[in-house]
Amino acid sequence: MANLTEKILLPHRDDLNDPYMIGDELVFFVNGKKITERQAEPEVTLLTYLRRKLGLTGTKLGCAEGGCGACTVMISKYHPHLGRLVHHSVNSCLAPVCSLHHCAVTTVEGIGSVAGKLHPVQERIAMSHGSQCGFCTPGIVMSMYALLRNNPTPRMVDIEEAFQGNLCRCTGYRPILEGYKTFTTCRFQVNVLTVCCQGNILLPAPLYNPADFQPLDPTQEIIFPPELMSLVKTQSPTRLSFMGERVLWLQPASLDELLDLKARYPNAKLVVGNTEVGIEMKFKNLLYPVILAPSYIPELNTIEHTDLVFGASCSLTVLGDVLKTAVASLPTHQTGVLIAVLEQLRWFAGLQIRNVAAIGGNIITASPISDLNPVFMAAGCKLTLMSKAGPRVVVMDENFFPGYRRTILTPEEILLSVLIPYTVKYFAAYKQSPRREDDISIVTSGMSVTFAEGTAVVKEMALSYGGMAATTVLAKYTASGLLGKQWGEELLQDACASLAKEMTLHPSAPGGMVTYRRALTLSLFYKFYLTVQRKLAAEVKNGVCVEVRADYVSATEIYHQNTASSVQIFQVIPEGQKEEDVVGRPMMHLSAMKQATGEAIYCDDIPLYENELHLCLITSTKAHARILSIDTSEADVMPGVVTCVLAKDIPGSNVTGPAFYDETVLADHTVTCVGHIIGAVVADTQAHAKRAASAVKVSYEDLQPVIITIQDAITHQSFYQPIRTLQRGDTKQGFTQADHVLEGEIYMGGQEHFYLETNATVAVPKGEDGEMELFVSTQAPAKTQALVAKALGVPANRVVVRVKRMGGGFGGKESRSTILSTVVAVAAHKLKRPVRCMLDRDEDMLVTGGRHPFYGQYKVGYMKSGKVVALKVTFYSNAGNSMDLSFSVSIMERALFHMENSYNIANVWGRGYPCKTNLPSNTAFRGFGGPQGMLVAESWINDVAQSLGLPTEQVRRLNLYKQGDTTPYSQILEHITLDRCWDECLETAHYKQRRAAVDQYNRNHRWTKRGLAIVPTKFGISFTAAALVHIYTDGSVLLTHGGTEMGQGLHTKMVQVASRCLDIPTSKIHITETSTSTVPNTSPTAASASSDLNGAAVQCNAMHSVANPLLGRQHPDIILNPDPNLTLVAHLMPLFRRAFLRTPDLGYDFETNAGRAFNYFTYGVACSEVEIDCLTGSNTNLHTTIVMDVGNSLNPALDIGQVEGGFIQGVGLFTLEELKYSPQGYLFTRGPGMYKIPAFGDIPTDLTVSLLRDAPNQKAIFSSKAVGEPPLFLAASVFFAIKDAITAARAESGLSGPFRLDSPATPERIRNACEDRFTKMCPPALPGTFTPWAVTV
Ligand SMILES: Cc1cc2nc3c(=O)[nH]c(=O)nc-3n(C[C@H](O)[C@H](O)[C@H](O)COP(=O)(O)OP(=O)(O)OC[C@H]3O[C@@H](n4cnc5c(N)ncnc54)[C@H](O)[C@@H]3O)c2cc1C
Ligand code: FES
Ligand code: FES
Repeated sequence: MANLTEKILLPHRDDLNDPYMIGDELVFFVNGKKITERQAEPEVTLLTYLRRKLGLTGTKLGCAEGGCGACTVMISKYHPHLGRLVHHSVNSCLAPVCSLHHCAVTTVEGIGSVAGKLHPVQERIAMSHGSQCGFCTPGIVMSMYALLRNNPTPRMVDIEEAFQGNLCRCTGYRPILEGYKTFTTCRFQVNVLTVCCQGNILLPAPLYNPADFQPLDPTQEIIFPPELMSLVKTQSPTRLSFMGERVLWLQPASLDELLDLKARYPNAKLVVGNTEVGIEMKFKNLLYPVILAPSYIPELNTIEHTDLVFGASCSLTVLGDVLKTAVASLPTHQTGVLIAVLEQLRWFAGLQIRNVAAIGGNIITASPISDLNPVFMAAGCKLTLMSKAGPRVVVMDENFFPGYRRTILTPEEILLSVLIPYTVKYFAAYKQSPRREDDISIVTSGMSVTFAEGTAVVKEMALSYGGMAATTVLAKYTASGLLGKQWGEELLQDACASLAKEMTLHPSAPGGMVTYRRALTLSLFYKFYLTVQRKLAAEVKNGVCVEVRADYVSATEIYHQNTASSVQIFQVIPEGQKEEDVVGRPMMHLSAMKQATGEAIYCDDIPLYENELHLCLITSTKAHARILSIDTSEADVMPGVVTCVLAKDIPGSNVTGPAFYDETVLADHTVTCVGHIIGAVVADTQAHAKRAASAVKVSYEDLQPVIITIQDAITHQSFYQPIRTLQRGDTKQGFTQADHVLEGEIYMGGQEHFYLETNATVAVPKGEDGEMELFVSTQAPAKTQALVAKALGVPANRVVVRVKRMGGGFGGKESRSTILSTVVAVAAHKLKRPVRCMLDRDEDMLVTGGRHPFYGQYKVGYMKSGKVVALKVTFYSNAGNSMDLSFSVSIMERALFHMENSYNIANVWGRGYPCKTNLPSNTAFRGFGGPQGMLVAESWINDVAQSLGLPTEQVRRLNLYKQGDTTPYSQILEHITLDRCWDECLETAHYKQRRAAVDQYNRNHRWTKRGLAIVPTKFGISFTAAALVHIYTDGSVLLTHGGTEMGQGLHTKMVQVASRCLDIPTSKIHITETSTSTVPNTSPTAASASSDLNGAAVQCNAMHSVANPLLGRQHPDIILNPDPNLTLVAHLMPLFRRAFLRTPDLGYDFETNAGRAFNYFTYGVACSEVEIDCLTGSNTNLHTTIVMDVGNSLNPALDIGQVEGGFIQGVGLFTLEELKYSPQGYLFTRGPGMYKIPAFGDIPTDLTVSLLRDAPNQKAIFSSKAVGEPPLFLAASVFFAIKDAITAARAESGLSGPFRLDSPATPERIRNACEDRFTKMCPPALPGTFTPWAVTV
């Protein structure tokens, strides 16, 4: 690392005698066009260059750390020594623009457009409904495009590999894979079923028709620019230098030159893939004034095959390709290490990273959780280091890494090459991470053993671990203790006992998960032990080693991912429905094509205004403190800085809040969480604003108490008021009557929204009467308008908020987005210039809050049959530092309304405490408090079944609501379809046969177990909307409604509704945006009800309009909306019409337990089967069947998309996603590197989604039902299937009965719950005896 002072070492910019100071021209091509950049800036990434300099905004910024793939482009290079062109998918957010000399870049805009012709990869993702919000789509398109450029007929595994580095938060991935499956050699099968009106005949009628896809014609692809080809072929490599504002980039032409430069600038960083250095500079604020780019130096790219030697700049993709070829050609006794390296590479980052990241970069980074270093260390790899003084060869052993992220290289040395030995026969590598794909390790390991000839007596052994210390380490003590011992049970016992002593960790160790990590060291050794035993038994025939027991064999098997398959079932259009009537048809998302070509405009894609400025937030580093001073003096004079904005700059009111005014726009006296917004820096570029923001010095005085966790809040009785209680019947009597009573508790962690597009606002002052126009990525335009006006001190009529579309919202942009918009508006107002801010992913995760963590305590009274007769539940939610939506109908009340989930219980008492803590305010998230309330319910019903020894599905079915039953909040259930969903789900999933197969599997497998669960949901729907229809003289219609488009297809559904009402084709109807100037005072787009409400408003409005002669017809008999369930305020005007609507008769009173809480309920049932690895805690979703009642679907393609997307988001919530906070309230998980949402590989291998047929809902538009939120909870079926599998594992250790499993069921929790001989050797430290690295908030 270096700091700014090192710049003194730099040659002077104007020193013309210094060859490095003559700034070179950077020449590269983008979409076939030559770019000559005379002022290439080493700190600028390709992504920034594309978006800001070239205006190519199709490539998106999702994380800036290589973790989401939204920025994927294809880079093509001609490799003179290979003599061929190479095309690679690359993360443009990490690729320095200076690294692109003589490369050709292809972006999403370069391969097709809506106006011209879409490329098949664009068309197929759109037509197969694989694009919802569309923010991830260009990146996915480009990953697929790059794959096809290299391989026009890929296999499904190639596609899965290509997508390892891409994330999507909306679709649930299935439609993307299905759409792209059509490129593979396997014949595409129609696996979509519709059901005719009688409900019993399945007919193939797909959501789309692959026959409509244009064929892929590889000969039509853009060619590598001929001019570039001749440049590369004719010019010999030359030295290049690019001098930027703070950094000098040098690209030496030869090894000698590189060594010279390293001697001259010993602190210079070599940069190859920039996947490590880029992260350090962006997120750790490190500055490397001199960068040496050795990518083209032949010696660093050479591969020798006699001894397998790789030049240090060889990419991991090249490494993998060479190893695969070697493994295929070498005898097996030479391939042990090679196969192990390949296995590590399989789960190493995503393909975009592996395409650029170098083998040398991984070694020299010296990360303690490097995946390759433990393998290289256990294999005894040899490294050639080189300096001007000459080469030296060292073995990678425990001396190579003298400390955290340090190696023995001297400053003048570089790593030249790595020799991987062929010789080790018994070798294995293991990596355990929270998510399989693209994730960093928790523990990683390389293990080798050799035996005395013809025996099972250990001759040599090396056990190497990552994740167990500050460096990769060798378990030397254990390994030497095993020398001379026979490979058998005694050796295993000794090894484990020794490892438990040697591989210890302090209970406060960074990274946490201490008990799990320790247990993993033993468990992974055990896997190695069994693997070697299996081989030995097969190879050494004289009986020196016993066979591995048949039921233990699965512990030695390498994870194999089966290609996902799926079925969708939905209802066909009724006979007689006109062809032009699109309601109920699987119409493609209207923007899908534009999203696939990169032409769809998101907030930050709006072209820069001429005098526009950029804003970066200043946030608190303390959880609870008084602000003593804010010193902006250093920031004020930094390059590009225009001003700092603090509380005193707010012209109107600094008080804000979406439901209660209990927050400030900018903290003035105190801060109440880490990430509390204190101010902002405004500068000419985002980079300048960011640098200056980190130079602002805030001094604090710590305040007490600091309340971080729910337990802290309980201790301090820190709750928001009022505390709600919901009660029905007499629980005391119920418990007395019950045969049994049990008590339990469960904690459920929060969840980050992880919308792919972070919060963004562009504020444009209009120059007169205090007018301001804001372009915002928000679900709540009206709320944003009101709060901005309040802060600016102007009436709401001066502020217009416009929302074109969002790159996902999920509730996260319902209320928390308003603060950023207000800060940006205040800055724009102060400077009278347009100001823009799109939060970086880490800022967004830090400041915006997420789903509320919940802690539930319960007491259940039940009969021998399993019938529950009494229930007492207490909920605590971690609401954070402001009320936001924590208390109202949104979160805690909704948890209480869903505390019985789908079960009829006579005597119920529930109370909810929203805890006031020093965390950023938590907020709405798909399902609000519903999933939390229902998870607690499923936990106690599971306990009841387990305690009685009854099948869980039997107890659930017994308690299920029936028609006419009453909820605890006195709502009579009508048109209930729970039983139909349940029965269909059981039948479709073949539950009985599946249960028998799972039990059979578990009898035959000790170390892998399967689990099965079926879980229902009942989700209450309530909310307000409005719409406006303009009919123009040419007969075209402009439709505007109060809802915002965030990928859910709301605009598409609204066009379908208007089309039916107006009886005109959808092509005549257009929606431009949602704007407060067209439809005022709307509700946020949330709570699933948007299509009901906006649809009804559109319907009301459009039906009045049909009489208009401009549409070329008269409908005198169509009158005001006749639906008595809808309260309509419409008013007739000749050419445009507006309608407002709200759900009728809603309102519930907790005091009297009277009133209607919901308009209706959406029901669903899911059955899931999983397999867990008891030794590592990994789990695989084998199967899911979902049956969902969405009434008469307005659009089955969009509804199935919502069901699948919601379900996979739920899989993240219940099994994967974990926010980690320090005891001081500092959020560690601030990006996709540490916070894992489900990836392509996390979807069920076998997924069936069925929309219940013949279940019209009289209470919503065209008999449909709300669908956005209800399916999310169905992922609890995966959680309880995991619990079922753990139950089977525990039974092997003699454990039975209910046990606590908190959510999410991560590998750590699964492993810890599967208690066995290994976990017993690594007991947890006693609580209270240490300060943990992370706390359960
Ligand atoms: C999204 C993402 C996922 C990742 N996943 C994983 C993972 O699964 N497992 C894992 O182990 N790592 C992972 N990494 C870390 C990183 O990708 C690897 O360490 C990678 O191999 C670094 O290579 P690079 O070429 O990009 O390094 P760079 O960033 O270019 O350089 C890294 C360091 O190595 C030095 N260096 C490079 N070459 C030489 C040389 N020849 N001589 C001397 N010094 C040299 C540089 O000066 C620098 O200090 C991930 C990173 C990202 C961004
Ligand atoms: S923005 Fe580049 S990977 Fe996320
Ligand atoms: S469609 Fe993939 S993130 Fe929205």
